[in-house]
This record gives sequence, C-alpha cells and structure tokens, in this order.
Amino acid sequence: MLTEAINQYRARVDNQLESYIDALEDIEPKLKAAMKHGALLGGKRIRPFLVYAIGDLLSVAPQKLDSAAAAIECIHAYSLIHDDLPAMDDDNLRRGQPTVHIAYDEATAILAGDALQTLAFEIISDPSNTLNPQQQIAMINALAKASGYNGMCGGQSMDLNATNQQIDYETLVKLHQLKTGALIRCAVELALIAADADDNTKQHLLTYAESVGLAFQVQDDVLDITASTEELGKPQGSDCEANKSTYPKLLGLSGAQDKAKALIEQALSALTNLPYNSQLIADFARYIITRRV
Ligand code: IPE
Ligand code: IPE
Ligand code: MG
Ligand code: MG
Ligand code: MG
Repeated sequence: MLTEAINQYRARVDNQLESYIDALEDIEPKLKAAMKHGALLGGKRIRPFLVYAIGDLLSVAPQKLDSAAAAIECIHAYSLIHDDLPAMDDDNLRRGQPTVHIAYDEATAILAGDALQTLAFEIISDPSNTLNPQQQIAMINALAKASGYNGMCGGQSMDLNATNQQIDYETLVKLHQLKTGALIRCAVELALIAADADDNTKQHLLTYAESVGLAFQVQDDVLDITASTEELGKPQGSDCEANKSTYPKLLGLSGAQDKAKALIEQALSALTNLPYNSQLIADFARYIITRRV
C-alpha cells in the first residue's frame, strides 16, 4: 500500500511539475532544460508524498494539494542543485545523473536553482489555483520560512561552517533540523493549511513531521556510509571525504541508527493521539529509516 501510494503521488506531482515548467515561455531553452534536469529526472518525491498523504488523512482532495506539492518539490530541487555546486558539496552525481552544473555549467545551475525557487512561489500564489487567498498567504509564509534563513538556507550555512570542525550534539541537531527537517515539516504544514486543521491535529502532526524530518537526514548520513553509489544515485562516501559533521561521525554508525529508530518511535507515538486511520503515514515513517535510497 505504501509503495503504491508513493508511486501514485510521485506520478501526480511529476505531471504537475512538467506542465508548470513546460508552460514557461521558451526565451532561454538552456535554462529551462537545466530546470527540468534538476526537477524531473528521478527523485523520491517524499515531500509531495507528505503533502498528499497528510491531506488525504484530513479529507482534503488531491486537487487542492497539487500546487503545494509541486511548489515544495521545486524548492527541494533548487536546494539540491545548489547543494551539489563546487562552492558547496561539489558533487558530480545526483539521482544517477550528472549534477546540473556538470550537465550544463555552473552559472546555469545557479540560475536554474533560482528560477525553481521563484517558480515555487509563482505556483502557490497563482490566483487560479483551488486554495482560498488566506490559505495561499499562509502557505507562502510557511514555505518562505522553511526555505530561508530560519530553515534550509540557514541549515546549509551551518553545514558548511561545520565542515572540518568538531561541533557539539545540540549544534548538529539544529543543523539537521534546519537544512532538511524544516522543509519536511513544511510539507505537513502545507497540508494542515489546506485542511484548515484544528490545533490538536496540528500539534501532533507537526511532532510527527519534526521527528520524521530529523530521522530523514540521520538516515541520509547513514546511507552515505552503508549504501553504494549505484543504490544512492549520488557519490557514496561524499560526507566522509569532505569531512562533514554528520550523525555517524558524532555518534558512531550504530549510535546514529539507534537515534533514527528512536525518532521514528516518537513520530509513531504522536500519531496515536489522533482519531484518524494513520496506517499509511505510519508505514511511511518506518520506511524513512529502512530505505536504501
Ligand atoms: C536528499 O533528499 C537531500 C536531503 C535533504 C537529505 P532526498 O533523499 O529527498 O532526494 P531525492 O529528491 O529523493 O533525490
Ligand atoms: C542536503 O544535505 C540538504 C539540502 C538542503 C539539499 P546533503 O548534502 O546531505 O544532501 P545529499 O546527501 O547531497 O543529497
Ligand atoms: Mg550538503
Ligand atoms: Mg550534498
Ligand atoms: Mg547527504
């Protein structure tokens, strides 16, 4: 059931993304092709999955979630394009393909990231989408916060500053919460906004989202050690080679794996407070730490 739902939602958001990018005027075909390369060639689409799955849990129709799902994936794709740049992680492989700056060039990769970022806000604020203006404003605000200084960008900056450094556990947690956790939390928040959810539902689903979001990056760090380049579609050992501050580096491999498990237990326990059939998102939480890619 989880695999089916992941595949179904992936296909749904891919259609959305493709039509949004295809609809852009052909003034700069190379930039447009680089945007498609970064946004459409592979990827698990776990953030859109969360938008749709949490929305479904709260009886929101998928049509009402399409713009949020596409927008958050645009932000994610932009973050990966920039993350791979020589000035950041300097990686050549992503989703089994050359990274955008390798397939095109550095300037094009920077601009493709920028244009995907602004496309996200164009999509979510589109007057013709099915959300009401209050929901649109709330989503813009949530997505901007999760992507910027107090979210992904702040976390990426902490990540760069922590490279070749010894940092304490609290700093590492904050770094991971910001660089990856914030956007995963935001996926759930966007669904809560579309559902006009009550405070109790918000509280427990955001706890779920925060635990899953942090566990997701812990598992990403674990996979850098335990999975192969073929499985990952990105260079195995990139973190170790760059001397990144990761969970396994600070806690050891099994310490990091235990931490990820404990976080997923927290996520599952938050779901027990809610009167919904949460089987799908519970299975998704377990998948986050058993995945090999
Ligand atoms: C990779 O994210 C970068 C992190 C935030 C850990 P994903 O593992 O979601 O990457 P794709 O989209 O599936 O390629
Ligand atoms: C990236 O973290 C998080 C982002 C905000 C993109 P990583 O640098 O660990 O992601 P991968 O391993 O390259 O996908
Ligand atoms: Mg990085
Ligand atoms: Mg990276
Ligand atoms: Mg990584």
